[in-house]
Amino acid sequence: MDKIAIIGSGRVGEAVAHLLAQKSLAKDVLLVDVRPGIAQGVALDIQECAPLFGFDTRLQGSTDLATIVDSDIVVITAGRPRQPGMSRMDVLDENNRILLNIAEGVRQYAAQAIVIVVSNPVDILTYQLWRHTGFAKHRVIGQAGVLDAARMASFVAFETGFSVKNISAMVLGGHGDSMVPMTRYTCINGVPIAHFLDDEKIASIVKRTREGGAEILALKQTSSAYDAPGAAIVEMIEAIHYDRKRLLPCVALLEGEYGQHDIAAGVPVVLGAKGVERVVELDLEPVEKDAFNTSLARLREDIKVITGCTKDSERG
Ligand code: LAC
Repeated sequence: MDKIAIIGSGRVGEAVAHLLAQKSLAKDVLLVDVRPGIAQGVALDIQECAPLFGFDTRLQGSTDLATIVDSDIVVITAGRPRQPGMSRMDVLDENNRILLNIAEGVRQYAAQAIVIVVSNPVDILTYQLWRHTGFAKHRVIGQAGVLDAARMASFVAFETGFSVKNISAMVLGGHGDSMVPMTRYTCINGVPIAHFLDDEKIASIVKRTREGGAEILALKQTSSAYDAPGAAIVEMIEAIHYDRKRLLPCVALLEGEYGQHDIAAGVPVVLGAKGVERVVELDLEPVEKDAFNTSLARLREDIKVITGCTKDSERG
């Protein structure tokens, strides 16, 4: 991969840039930030690790969105972070405004790129980006499920004592209170967790997973999570870079899958060189289906707020 651009040089953007360089996943990594000097400073700081880690990736920083030209992947992390006690929705208006501005730049300068949206509320902003760029849906992806599933797998490891190497978790729906951790599809080397944990333990893992972002924010006070979010984004980029066809939970545009249309939500997808190559439809039990539909109904309400009820047929 030649060039990956990261828009927003806060802690998540910085974590992603550093991991991309260390893993040599691109020849060029560009950081963009509206705040003068920030992106350049972050880029130089990481660049100066090169002799220590031995990577050849070139890092650059800029305030100019036009510099994303020719990027293979654009990662969007820009936006107002949550403060303790705030929900992801509390930053909706401002981050929607920021996102629309970025969407215009991406459409203009990186029309061939695969875009990974990270800014919150991620499901809503992924939908907005798709709507405003007019990009094919397979090239617009949101990061949420890889992080949520990693958190869930960590909590399963804490409770069972098994190695995380054997644990795979699955999370669907919105990246918020209505997220749907899928306990039936969360396994230890293929064995569902219900074999090892009672209902109460499983319920506490589900709750902790839903509140995973808030837990970190409440502890740190001055910052949301960034190490695990950064690692989750890089896991997705690696799947695209190496065309791995990994089955990962991501925010994807739904056009008929799960009986849903004109919405972006967390579902298992096959991630490869083209981006979202397929949405995988799981068989959901009635209670899971209800939770998934409730989660998506809440996303629809939020989408209505920011789109002013504009219909899909009015897309430019
Ligand atoms: C979190 C933020 C990134 O879950 O949404 O930590």
